[in-house]
Amino acid sequence: MWLNRDIVSIGDFTKEEIMDVIKRADEMVPYATSGHPRAPLANKIISTLFYEPSTRTRLSFESAAMRMGAKVLGFGSLESSSVAKGESLSDTIRILNGYSDAIVLRHPSEGAARLASEFSDVPIINAGDGAGQHPTQTMLDIFTIWKETGKVDGKHIGMIGDLKYGRTVHSLSKALSMFDISLYLISPDELRMPKHIKKDIEKSVPVKETRDIESVIEELDVLYVTRIQKERFPDINEYNKVAGSYSIRPALLSKAKKNLIIMHPLPRVNEISPEVDNLPQAKYFRQAAYGVPVRMAILDLILRGE
Ligand code: CP
Repeated sequence: MWLNRDIVSIGDFTKEEIMDVIKRADEMVPYATSGHPRAPLANKIISTLFYEPSTRTRLSFESAAMRMGAKVLGFGSLESSSVAKGESLSDTIRILNGYSDAIVLRHPSEGAARLASEFSDVPIINAGDGAGQHPTQTMLDIFTIWKETGKVDGKHIGMIGDLKYGRTVHSLSKALSMFDISLYLISPDELRMPKHIKKDIEKSVPVKETRDIESVIEELDVLYVTRIQKERFPDINEYNKVAGSYSIRPALLSKAKKNLIIMHPLPRVNEISPEVDNLPQAKYFRQAAYGVPVRMAILDLILRGE
């Protein structure tokens, strides 16, 4: 079921399979800082192939691989690889098949990971494909909700920010629609969740859409904040219209449930004030740290199949 499986889209997984990852990740937590004592992936090599910048996804995958005893290969930069000579994604994937046991791929084009999986005999792990999907981020987001609040079912979950281009919220809303939750989509009109995604989610869970965080903050158990991604706007004037349109500050949180948790896939720019960082609700740095045990679990499942 798991051996050699591609991780391309969260929609390829059932709720039970997502929970398999969550439970395995919980077992990995003690080893995420010290290394797994049995080094179960000692004979494995993981390639990291990043056509877009990354700090958390790339380095937490590398850390996870090393904590499991695997070795890691990666480009220093695209300019120092044959991508700079025009080598295609499909050829690059075929080449890395000869060098490694799994490939972690981030690419600016939606659908790139699916395409790569068609050329690959080793598992492709989608580390973000344009405005498409970021399934391993979703698994660590679900893990964070589960770990920090005790469960996912029953929660009122708000997503605020760039719901149009944000691949993390596209993946996460799809996954959450498999749980018994209520979803709040909070954004300027220009950055609303794409209609086809909203329609799909609404088949399974109640969805409330608003521009105004103040009107729903009291109802939320989880507030998932996202950056407005300048790099995804085809027109800078469109970006300028919405830049800085919201910022999470302590005054807003004074109206929230006391157990509210605030998450963010990071990086942030100014959508969460630094004054929030030391409040008990702020979970985003811990969320980033959970990237290691969750990715240890994913690598373990797809490379050992048990
Ligand atoms: N959350 C996330 O994808 O961060 P990076 O872009 O730093 O990998």
